[in-house]
Amino acid sequence: MAARQEPVYWLGKDTLRVSAALFAENRRRLCQGLRAKKGLLPKSVVLLQGGEQKQRYCTDTDLLFRQESFFHWAFGVTEADCYAAIDVDTGKSVLFVPKLPESYGTWMGEIYPREHFQQKYAVDEVQYTCDIPDAVANMSAAVLLTLRGQNTDSGSICREASFEGISRFQVNNTLLHPVIVECRLIKTDMELEVLRYTNRISSEAHKELMKHVKPGQKEYEMESLFQHYCYTRGGMRHTSYTCICGTGNNSSVLHYGHAGAANDKTIMDGDMCLFDMGGEYYCYSSDITCSFPANGKFTPDQKAIYEAVLKSSRDVLAALKPGVKWTEMHRLADRVHLEELVKIGILSGSVEDMLKVHMGSVFMPHGLGHLLGIDVHDVGGYPEGVERIDEPGLKSLRMGRLVRERMVLTVEPGIYFINHLLDQALANPAQNGFINNQVLARFRGFGGVRIEDDIAVTANGVELLTCVPRTVEEIEAFMADTSKSFSPVVVSDKF
Ligand code: GLY
Ligand code: MN
Ligand code: MN
Repeated sequence: MAARQEPVYWLGKDTLRVSAALFAENRRRLCQGLRAKKGLLPKSVVLLQGGEQKQRYCTDTDLLFRQESFFHWAFGVTEADCYAAIDVDTGKSVLFVPKLPESYGTWMGEIYPREHFQQKYAVDEVQYTCDIPDAVANMSAAVLLTLRGQNTDSGSICREASFEGISRFQVNNTLLHPVIVECRLIKTDMELEVLRYTNRISSEAHKELMKHVKPGQKEYEMESLFQHYCYTRGGMRHTSYTCICGTGNNSSVLHYGHAGAANDKTIMDGDMCLFDMGGEYYCYSSDITCSFPANGKFTPDQKAIYEAVLKSSRDVLAALKPGVKWTEMHRLADRVHLEELVKIGILSGSVEDMLKVHMGSVFMPHGLGHLLGIDVHDVGGYPEGVERIDEPGLKSLRMGRLVRERMVLTVEPGIYFINHLLDQALANPAQNGFINNQVLARFRGFGGVRIEDDIAVTANGVELLTCVPRTVEEIEAFMADTSKSFSPVVVSDKF
């Protein structure tokens, strides 16, 4: 008999085909992980609740749905308001879909039968959510494993599955979370292929921006162009996070682009641009930052700061391999920054002494990088037993563990001139002796430089997933060359 053809997620044209086998493999790994766990009872059934369709405040305007990340990791289901179960002993998978009212057919489109979803997601069985209690009882579940645990970046607790009639069952809500998080930490070949794709499309989009940026444009035009490229070329309806298009002094605002600072400044001649954006495909992320001068030509000061950050980025990439401490990589980046800032003349004195008083965090207050996967700040950075280091800079590091093969991480060092941090350092007797205030004054208003690449950890080093011009020479040559540019606007001459 011919092997079963797994269905694929595909948005046509040149977009990536993702097999449902990716999620079957994730479920298999989850069951394997759970079975290895002490305290697991026989006849345990994982029960996950997918994301809900929500509306804008009290209105009936639907928000654009994006699946809950754990649910996506295990089932790859794009629809809202579903549940799913996995029998840990046998691996049997059951998807629960809502029984939709007839009016759905009028307003929202075709109501598909259960077989449609069984075929679409290659699960063993599909039932309606209203039948969960009976269907779970039919699985002879002795205990339901629900998902409860803290996201170590946000501090939020993930929402545990719940349904009417759950009180009939024994529930364990502590076993599942650490196991599924460890599974998500290590990427399979199929997941790496999707992350290579999100990086390829997002890298191309960043290159489009480099070609199109001009003084006089608005920052939001860059956001718009990035999104347009990712969606048109890559089928990416979502970005992985709010687009950061900071120019001039805004490039020192780490999470610029939010509603209170909405990428709405006019780009000026002489500005540095810091564009931090990543497209998301089928819920897999990317997170890339490119920094370059708006006019395509670095000033000597811009070049010096840029090359300082590039050096720390390249030194970290060269040192990264399984077994190294991520916290040490952060310290390495700090050290390189301080050495380079001494060469530039902003700092003077012993770098060893500067490190003792955390001078690195004055210029890079964020962490070196983070895990990346279905979430841009992916889960697994601080499992039980791994503590955050309570030092300036390092306390913001989103991962505290040893680097392992098949982790996907961002490497995103940066040097920023943030006035209130500079003023604090100048007021701090332990730090101000290292600062040449006259030289520093030249850099007030400069903004900042971040260089952010996504990497997959291999057996001996890293695979660089991001592909954009990085050296000063590459960037200047690329921006000067106006050929091979994607034309984002379809101009019609019919009217
Ligand atoms: N774009 C958010 C971050 O770099 O972590
Ligand atoms: Mn970023
Ligand atoms: Mn990042």
